[in-house]
Amino acid sequence: MTGNESRVKTGIAGLDVLARGGFPTNSVNLVSGPAGSGKTLLATQFFFNGARDNGDAGLYLVLEENRENIIRAMRHFEMDLDGPENEGRLFLIDLGEMRTEQDRGVVSFREIMDFLESFIAKTKPKRLVLDSLPIVSLYYRNVEEFREELFIFSRYLRQQDLTTILITESLEDQCLTRFGVEQFVADSFIVLGLEDVRGELRRTLTVRKMRFTKHDTAKHPFLITPRGIEVMSGEKVV
Ligand SMILES: Nc1ncnc2c1ncn2[C@@H]1O[C@H](COP(=O)(O)OP(=O)(O)O)[C@@H](O)[C@H]1O
Ligand SMILES: [Mg+2]
Repeated sequence: MTGNESRVKTGIAGLDVLARGGFPTNSVNLVSGPAGSGKTLLATQFFFNGARDNGDAGLYLVLEENRENIIRAMRHFEMDLDGPENEGRLFLIDLGEMRTEQDRGVVSFREIMDFLESFIAKTKPKRLVLDSLPIVSLYYRNVEEFREELFIFSRYLRQQDLTTILITESLEDQCLTRFGVEQFVADSFIVLGLEDVRGELRRTLTVRKMRFTKHDTAKHPFLITPRGIEVMSGEKVV
């Protein structure tokens, strides 16, 4: 750990070791990887563990799937939302339900900020997840516009008293992120991999960037167990 930078623990086995204690407080963190690599699982664990282990209120914004799917997936991994939702600590919100037919399922960063403005004032979340950026990008005509708005959005998030995960995706064997720009605006960048090793799928996690701190940069294998993601922080993939 460097200095006395305060940390927000993910509570994910091995990941807090690689990140030297967790995400920097009030940072914007990007998680990328191909479909099925575990991005949503990682983010739900960050969201859920915060309430369970630290009493942090949390907000999970769903754009890519529906609420029911996420709840069902969380249950598989011993994360039951009923209690924390009833207590008003965790909020899993389907932004798609705010959209009208006319929008054709598209929501902009400005609309998300408007929503957050009142939501944050009411519920004071310490953790936020946006799942996922590629859906928001559909609103914009080109990458430049998307990047500009994402930059404004990230700056807004840093001014709030919360720590964020933004999910994006990588297309297999191509760029690390869908648009090639997301990692430049984020404070940290975690890449999940799904590799075919002689017919078997191997899952990997790499912390590619973490501002304000030293961190481990190697590619590590991870497992999905009944308790969620377990990163083998002592093992490396070469
Ligand atoms: N109940 C389960 N037990 C074990 N593995 C599961 C279970 N449910 C989902 N998975 C695995 O978790 C992976 C990660 O899913 P998810 O986090 O939704 O990926 P992403 O958001 O990156 O598309 C899935 O590909 C699947 O292999
Ligand atoms: Mg997902």
